[in-house]
Amino acid sequence: MSGTPGLIARWRDRLPVTARTPLITLGEGNTPLVRVDRVAKAAGLPPGSVFVKVEGANPTGSFKDRGMTLAISKAVESGATGVLCASTGNTSASAAAYAARAGLRCVVFLPAGKVAAGKLSQAVMHGAEIVEVAGNFDEALVMAGEAAKTKGFALVNSSNPFRLQGQKTAAFEIIEQLGRAPDNHFIPVGNAGNITAYWMGYKESGAKPRMFGWQAAGAAPLVSGKAVKNPSTLATAIRIGCPVSWNGAIAARDESGGAIGKVTDAEILAAYRLLSSTEGVFCEPSSAASVAGLLKLGRARKAPAGLTVCVLTGNGLKDPGITARWKPKIRRVKAGGAIKL
Ligand code: F0G
Repeated sequence: MSGTPGLIARWRDRLPVTARTPLITLGEGNTPLVRVDRVAKAAGLPPGSVFVKVEGANPTGSFKDRGMTLAISKAVESGATGVLCASTGNTSASAAAYAARAGLRCVVFLPAGKVAAGKLSQAVMHGAEIVEVAGNFDEALVMAGEAAKTKGFALVNSSNPFRLQGQKTAAFEIIEQLGRAPDNHFIPVGNAGNITAYWMGYKESGAKPRMFGWQAAGAAPLVSGKAVKNPSTLATAIRIGCPVSWNGAIAARDESGGAIGKVTDAEILAAYRLLSSTEGVFCEPSSAASVAGLLKLGRARKAPAGLTVCVLTGNGLKDPGITARWKPKIRRVKAGGAIKL
């Protein structure tokens, strides 16, 4: 017994690994697929037709762990002594954790002031070397790419093909959990690696759900068709103006007969709140963009028929700053005092 196996062990015949690849794992993958009837109702869909894939249940609290277990394992196999990434937060948290486990240096380039507190604390505690860039994610990514030319370092952003290979396993799991492929797949889109990876995973399984990607309205280059210079949204994880996997996202949309749309910050927060307060599922705001998109189509009476899966990419605990917008009613009492409910 070597502990919870993780997704490389589970899907190794479908991944680019050999007997010589060291397995750097934290037991990632195998995340819950939760039926959400309140969400279905709000979108005008029948009970049992909408599920959420809770990727915040991965070891570092986001889907990034799927790609990172493979990217870091392959980096070790290739003899790297360090890894690098730019990140809106989750990639850096995941890279830092897996690098710590592998005994590699980890350098992360973060857009100053735009990384949620939980994610930053993970990078700190896992011992990453932090470079704060006075700029946005897209600018930080250019710097990480340059720095990655340093001997011994591997870039572990989603431009690294092993990242997408690892992330595609989520599509395999969904098909296994539902007993069939969904008809529609809803997903937040930032740098567009994840929508590309899911589409690859579905295609490899012979499945063809319609892919619906959702960007934040202030950071929606794939909707407008042109890069956004100063992306802006409270959904900081997807605050990206020029996605690396642009072509992958467009191919997923067009080959599947899907769409890429945008949702406002208010719509994202409404979905975030609906999930947490009526379904008991706490995701981070960026993740709620997928459900916000479904609700938006529902309001227009255009929610697609059939079985729908919405990916919730990261855990709500990542971003405690956002919850400060809700003022709880708290009763303050003396210990031992009576309280009327
Ligand atoms: N949701 C969350 C919670 C994310 O952290 C990200 C990306 C996305 C969605 C979008 O995924 O980039 O594959 O389209 N976060 C990256 C990061 C950019 O640095 O953590 P994508």
